[in-house]
Amino acid sequence: MRLEKYLADCGVGSRSQCKTYIRQGLVKVNGSVAENGAQKVSGTEEISFQGKALTLAKNLYFMFHKPAGCICATRDNSQKTVLDFFPPALSKKLLIAGRLDKDTEGMLLLTDDGAFIHQLMSPGKHVEKTYFFKASGRLSKDAADRVAAGMDIGDEKPLKPGRLYHIQITGTDAFSGCLTIKEGRYHQVKRMIKALGGEVSYLKRISIGPVSLDASLSPGEYRPLTEEELQLLGRESVK
Ligand code: URA
Repeated sequence: MRLEKYLADCGVGSRSQCKTYIRQGLVKVNGSVAENGAQKVSGTEEISFQGKALTLAKNLYFMFHKPAGCICATRDNSQKTVLDFFPPALSKKLLIAGRLDKDTEGMLLLTDDGAFIHQLMSPGKHVEKTYFFKASGRLSKDAADRVAAGMDIGDEKPLKPGRLYHIQITGTDAFSGCLTIKEGRYHQVKRMIKALGGEVSYLKRISIGPVSLDASLSPGEYRPLTEEELQLLGRESVK
């Protein structure tokens, strides 16, 4: 990454302030005064500002297996929140990347890196989210085609094309399946299944982009994301 961004990420100042510091000769890379903020650094160099070595503050990134029955809010007076599963010293710092309904289980990402959340969740990015669902009712015959075409669920704009697959008819009036979507509209999966003839009775998010929920995490458990997972999710790495 560019030296000026590295300095800004270390908390030295804004990117433009960091450029100025570089011009003023206050920054050294491997002992030599840096001259240009555009200089590329990998994070393995010795980088100092005003003679003090800098270390990139490490961000926190967690994969959490959200159980049903808790809400995706940072604080709530009456209901259990996903942050109640983390120790207070951690939960104070964490932001929730996206929302799952209270009765939805599955993969949730939490981090103190707001830029990462923005990158992951901004509507323009279209990061795929996959859900496993169980539903009552009768699925319309052309359901998979309708999902693939981009459904109208009564919003201003139709949905982006998605994928409906692994459909199983589990009774006279019940079915299950997987649904991959690119947006995160309000109650999107439940509304899509409703428009296709069903009523969701169970919903679990099983992956975000190319990263799947770790099967070793029980509901309520979390673990740090690996460097590989972070890269798959598109976070810029300094390593
Ligand atoms: N779609 C829903 O309907 N609910 C969720 O929690 C997530 C996606």
